[in-house]
This record gives sequence, C-alpha cells and structure tokens, in this order.
Amino acid sequence: MIRFDEKNKVFLLNTEHTSYGIALTDDRYVCHLYYGSRLEETDLRYLLREDEGPFTPSSNKRETGSFLDSAPMEYPESGMGDYRESALRIRSAAGYRASELVYEGYEIMAGKPRLEGLPATWGADSACSTLKIYCRDQLLGMKVTLLYSVFQDSDALTRSAIIENEGKEPFYIEKALSACLDMDDRGFEVMGLFGSWARERRIQRIPLGYGRQNIASFRGESSHQEHPFLALVTPETTQDTGEVYAMNFVYSGNFIAQAEKSQFDSVRMTMGIHPEGFTWKLEPGESFTAPEVVMVYSSEGLGKMTRTFHDLYRNHLIRSPWLHRKRPILINNWEATYFDFDEKKLLEIAEDASELGIEMLVMDDGWFGKRSNDDSSLGDWRVNEEKIRGGLNSLVENVKKLGMKFGIWIEPEMISPDSELYRQHPDWALQVPGRDITQSRAQYVLDLSREEVADGVYEMIAEVLHSADISYVKWDMNRQLATMGSYAWPADRQGELYHRYMLGVYRMQERLLADFPDLLLENCSGGGARFDAGMLYYSPQIWCSDDTDAVERLSIQEGTALIYPVSAMGAHVSVCPNHTVGRVTPFVTRGHVALSGTFGYELDITKLTDEEKAIVKAQTAEYHRYNDLIREGDYYRMESYTENKDRDSWMIVSKEKDRALVFCVQVLSGANRKSRFLRLKGLDPDRRYVADGREYQGSTLMRAGLRIPAESGDFKSRLIEIRQV
Ligand code: GLA
Repeated sequence: MIRFDEKNKVFLLNTEHTSYGIALTDDRYVCHLYYGSRLEETDLRYLLREDEGPFTPSSNKRETGSFLDSAPMEYPESGMGDYRESALRIRSAAGYRASELVYEGYEIMAGKPRLEGLPATWGADSACSTLKIYCRDQLLGMKVTLLYSVFQDSDALTRSAIIENEGKEPFYIEKALSACLDMDDRGFEVMGLFGSWARERRIQRIPLGYGRQNIASFRGESSHQEHPFLALVTPETTQDTGEVYAMNFVYSGNFIAQAEKSQFDSVRMTMGIHPEGFTWKLEPGESFTAPEVVMVYSSEGLGKMTRTFHDLYRNHLIRSPWLHRKRPILINNWEATYFDFDEKKLLEIAEDASELGIEMLVMDDGWFGKRSNDDSSLGDWRVNEEKIRGGLNSLVENVKKLGMKFGIWIEPEMISPDSELYRQHPDWALQVPGRDITQSRAQYVLDLSREEVADGVYEMIAEVLHSADISYVKWDMNRQLATMGSYAWPADRQGELYHRYMLGVYRMQERLLADFPDLLLENCSGGGARFDAGMLYYSPQIWCSDDTDAVERLSIQEGTALIYPVSAMGAHVSVCPNHTVGRVTPFVTRGHVALSGTFGYELDITKLTDEEKAIVKAQTAEYHRYNDLIREGDYYRMESYTENKDRDSWMIVSKEKDRALVFCVQVLSGANRKSRFLRLKGLDPDRRYVADGREYQGSTLMRAGLRIPAESGDFKSRLIEIRQV
C-alpha cells in the first residue's frame, strides 16, 4: 500500500481507488506530488514541474523565496518565504519566528501508532500501514514526524504530525496544523457545514475565490456554528459524479479548516488546531502531537465520500461495544418535564413506555444538588432525595422491574457559581484573575487542564454510577469556553489551556469507559455542538440537535450524515406543537425521521392519545425490524429538501444489496400534482426486488424509478422496504 521509489525519491500511498504522492526535492523539501484516482507507477516527478521557473534552490539559490512561495509543500513552515498559510510556526527561546525543516529519513510500518491522549482512527497491523517522514530543524533542535496512514478496506487516508524538542532550549509552538494539501485549482467550490443552536450542520457550497476562506471555531469546542469539515469539489460535482477532496478533524476543540487560492491559481487546503489563543511551550525532551485529520478523495461525487467516511468511522474509529448492537429504545424526560419531575413522574412515564416497547428510561437534567432550574448545582453530583425519594437505587430497581434499563444525564465539565463545589473550590473554574468570569446559562467552565479538578469531579460522578445499575450516560456540555485562564499554569503556558482542556475531557471519558466498559455513552453539547469525529472515539452516538422538529431535522440530519454514520445520530420523536419551532407534523413522519438515527422518544408518554400510543407500538416494532439494516447499511441521498425546498429522500442499502429502505418526505403538499418516479440508488441492477408489493429489476428501480404517489397534506412521509426476491 505504501512504496518509496528510491531513484525518483517518490512516496506513493495507495488505497483501493486512490493515490497520494509525495516527492523529495533537493534532498531537503518534502513536496506534494499528487492526490486523486489511483496511479500504479512512481515515475511521477514530472508533476513537480522542476524544469519550470523558479526552479529548486539548488539550481537557483537567488530565488529561493519564489520557490518557497510556489512549491507544493506537505508541511509548510512560516518565516522563510512561503507566504501562503503555514502549517507550523515556531518561536524560539530568543523570540525568532522562522523554522526550516530538512528531510532526514522515513519509515514504513505495519499498523498505525496511537496518538498519545488523543482520539484517532485505529486498525490491526494487517489492516493498515503508516508512513513516517522525519524532518529536522537543526538550529532549533526540532524533529518533526509527518504521519500518513492508509487502510486496506478504505479510500481514506489519515495525517498528523509530532513535534519533538531534541535541542537544549525550550521553544514555543504557535501553530501546528495537522494536514496541508496543495493542488492546482480546478474551479473548486468550497463545501462546509454551518449553523447555530438548534440548527446545526447545514450544508453550504460556494465558489472558491482568491484569498483565504476558512471555517473555524475558537469556542473551545467544535461548535454548532462551524464544523471541522471542509471539502473542495469540482463544479459539476453531484451526489454521484464529480471530484471531492474532503478533510475532517478527529478533534473536538478549536479548529481551523481553510482553502486558499493563490496568485498562481494553486489551492492550499489546511486543517488543524486554531492558532488563535494557542501557544505550546516545548521543553527539551518533550513532544507535541497534532490531532488527526482524515482525508477522503472521491471521483464519484459526494455520495462516495459519505460512504467512505461512514465505513471508516464504523470500522476504524468508534470503539464502543455498542457499535454493532441494537441500542435500547429510550425515552428521555427532558421535553416531557424539563426540571419539574420526581421519582413518581418518572415511574409513570416508564410504566406507559414499557407497555409500548420502549426499553430504557433516561433521567435528564435536574436530579442533583438543589437544581430546579438551570441557575445552580452543576458540580454537586449528589442525588436530590427530595425529588428522587427513596434514592437513585430504588428508582432504578423499580424501572428495572418494568423490564427497562436506566440512563442518566450529567454535565461534568461545568460548575455553577451557585454550587457547593464552587464555594469550596472557586479556583476550579477557568478564569482570568481580576476579571469577571463570563457566564453562559449561569455556569462557569471547570479547569479541566488540571488533573485534580478532572479527577475530583470524575470521582463524584463515578460514585453515582456505582450506586445503581446505570446502563447509559448522556454527557452534556452546555456552554462554550471564555475567560481562559488557569491558576495552575505559569504565564508562558496559559496558551496551552484550550488544548489541555480537551485532553482533560478525553482523559475523563477514557476513564469512564475503562471503569464502566459496557456503558452506552451518548455525547451531547447544547444539542449537537460537539458532534465530531473526536467524540465518536468515545461514544457510538451523539445527540444531534435540541431541535426535534421532523422538518428541521431533515436538514440537520442531512448535513450530519454527510460525514457521520446514521447509527451515531441521536434522534428522538417529540410532541407537537414542537417545542422549538411550534410546528405540527404527523406522528408517523416524526418516527420515520428518528428511525434514521438512533431512535427514541422525548415526550410525556402518559399524555398521548390511544391512537398515538398505537403508533408508538408500531414504531418500536419497526425499529426492531429495521435497525440492523439502518445501523450497518450504506447511505444514499436522492433528494435534498434543503436544496429543493419541497421534498427529501434517502436510502439505506444493506452491504449485501439484498435489502433496502427508502425514506421520503413530502414537506409541503401542492395542488394538482402527479405521482413522481424516484430513482433509487445502490441496488444491484441485475437482481430482482420487491417494493410495495410489486416486483422490479434493480436496474428499473434505479433508472426508471419507483413511483411515489402525490400525497395530500403537509409533512407526509413514506418508508418503503425493498427486498430481493
Ligand atoms: C442540553 C441538551 C438537552 C438537555 C438539556 C438539559 O440543552 O442538549 O437535551 O439535556 O441540555 O439541560
């Protein structure tokens, strides 16, 4: 899979359908050669245009600057004359900002090394291989290792970089991105995911102009607003055709993803930790690891990119024992009761739920300290026995008597100013001494860069989890970071806080999973503000959005499923009028939309009508009938309501292509409409299938289409099962 051509000084990394090429120039520069559809030979140096000006420095030293500012680089440094975006910026102990990496050697190894303390893709030695390229800056005593891994069963490639101080003096990393890709422009358009609270991950696609277009967060989390994903697509790209170059960050904190079109119509695509607010002091003997970027190239449009990400994340990122298991259908009391509940109310919900096939009760926010609204008690992780009379264990045992499991909500990263914990440890909050701490939802953020803070909170929570039979945890994070300061670190290490905070969160989640190995963990952040590949390493599912309206969810889930498997998308049926947008949609439609995720309920089931209860019963049965297929299958998108403002449709096809589900939603009905023919995808053209009681050839369904009758009434959905004859 990975080769080095000694004569041509070319590395070629091949996956089944793609190639990534790197070439060494002047025995010194690590240059980018090629990324795209698979190539077989390594005689590729001509792609570097070394015989065109400005030539390499060895043949034209007087124009080294022109070379540096135009050559395609794998890991460009700053301060020497490459004025495009740099990947690395170092400040020496003396205050100089210029570094020069010189190629030193390489190693090709089976498998993939772990990235210390960070989430990353993984694979057996037989399943993947890694290229390490070693570079050195002699003056700084800095060694940089560029890591590239490819997988047997995937067209994805991963990158990261390790920076080591082998010198005698400390230096400061002011910027260390994880990946850089230089290419000639091909009229690229930039795709990204944008949103806000309750409307996460809407797809935007715009032309790439000269200058820099970036997508970023320095909110301390991957965020609702912008997403650590960037794709450059050729203008003709659709779901099924065209070229796509995508990067996705396996990290949950600050990031920057950028496309820059330069004077020579070349494009530099970069991704990594955002340099805003970041510096990292590296003492002699220490190393720093830049988190992983996953790169996917597709010559078959966005759909192929999507399926490559989904399979990579299901096969090589998510570790949970729940990944391939049917998750219990849950009912969460948040939209049912908000803070106003006690053990009696919860048991009433559980009783009705258990009769309808729901398998787990999740107790959301409000069970601890004296929390009866969101003004207090974060940090006081002790059960409020005025609400949960008889204690947690008794509640859980009563829920279990109904044949159900029990889950619980926590928000371990936060501390309320009005809490016992804050009164005891005011220094545990992130803060800048002498300044007011910025509040958000009346809460402060814990300084998880300090091990004793993370451990103190973790131990309180572990005690609760040990006190009863708890099968599921929803780990929430309801504000973004600000007033970044810590009592624990000296002045020249305060710039490490954002990243140290993330390392602290990862360490806590790792500990939780080690202590409770069969726990089903669902991450969450004010809805879907931390739905990212970093968190998927810890939890097989993430709450997608606080907006549970079926129509809003079409766009949110389309954007999320562009990269992440539907088996990871937390999706629930809630009541109408919907609490966020006030819309009334049919109960059946809400079920179909939630079935395309993890599936569950978030409503007061005791208040449903008999007719609605009958639908719940049918839906829970449908979940059992279809979840294996939905969780493990291939995702195809046919129509996008976000684009056409009229209808949405997508499919899940089994890997064996013997079964499929077609989901279609007619958002608004229209007058005097005919039925339409929906061209299906992903089936075997040569096999026979049954759909809606009629037999078809696969090619007929994919080329002529399945007839979808015009519906009367808004927000109507259909779920059609296709089976091979
Ligand atoms: C966040 C979550 C919700 C709910 C509330 C509780 O907003 O996304 O699902 O848990 O917090 O405060």
